[in-house]
Amino acid sequence: MVEQGRRGRSCPIGYRYAAAALRSAAAFETETLYVVGGLYGNRYALETVLEAFGAERGECALLFNGDFHWFDSDSADFVRVNRGVLQHRAIRGNVETELASPSAAAGCGCGYPEWVGDAEVERSNRILERLRETALSLPAELALLAALPMFAVAQIGGVRVAAVHGDATSLAGWEFSQERLGTPAGLAAANAAFAAAAVRVFASSHTCLPVLQSFETASGPCAIVNNGAAGMPNFRATRYGLATRISVRPTRAAGAYGTRIGGLYVDALPLDFDAAAWAAHFLAHWPAGSDAHTSYFSRIADGPRYEPRQALRLSQPLRAAAQ
Ligand SMILES: [Fe+2]
Repeated sequence: MVEQGRRGRSCPIGYRYAAAALRSAAAFETETLYVVGGLYGNRYALETVLEAFGAERGECALLFNGDFHWFDSDSADFVRVNRGVLQHRAIRGNVETELASPSAAAGCGCGYPEWVGDAEVERSNRILERLRETALSLPAELALLAALPMFAVAQIGGVRVAAVHGDATSLAGWEFSQERLGTPAGLAAANAAFAAAAVRVFASSHTCLPVLQSFETASGPCAIVNNGAAGMPNFRATRYGLATRISVRPTRAAGAYGTRIGGLYVDALPLDFDAAAWAAHFLAHWPAGSDAHTSYFSRIADGPRYEPRQALRLSQPLRAAAQ
């Protein structure tokens, strides 16, 4: 019997992996990698990221690093997102994992830390239950999710890059959150993960807010780049999502901010999707009083209480974040 108040806070054993598992050979090589986390069922953000990706030159790969489903409880939305995403590389987030292989203790599988309130956790559990009803009516789509890996390692310009959903040891870990990286203990733990995984860059998501944190390690400069959300605003009074772009070539996208790691350009890329259309679409499925509306609509409309200068944590930023 699972204590109701703990559902959504626990981290199932099946979510865990050793950081050393990331030391495996890179699954693929490319010159430019997009890592897109937290699409949250936003079909408009999906269109925008595919358009930006399509405009890239050279050898490119697009990888969705989990939670591409969330608000898409409408069957047509769910199928559209699933098929659009799975034409590219993808790893599972906690949402896809709890849809495909539910574990009683997990709830939404978010592994929420103590700074997230109980009411929000319970709303997330109920959103997941509603999404699961949709997914269970689409067994062929669910089977595709169950087959996805929990992490992926790429080689970009000779540099090893790990794409994870949560952190270096858990699909739903919060070690790469801006909150945890704002503490000395969190920074020390994250610093140790680069050597354990033998990578120079971790691209993560899951923890809701973006952060680009650089490190000086024995192997040279390293970075954690957490894109926050592709399908929701990430900064106060904005309405665009973010994706991560890691490339041997600089980005030409307006409004991007980033740094250099071992010859790579590591950037947060704005996804300026049709926010008005998305808000209307959201409201049609999650009206005032619904769990998703209560938890997310103020962010969808006005962004979270978070500024670009809080996300960019570099000793020598190449491009200052827009204010
Ligand atoms: Fe997540």
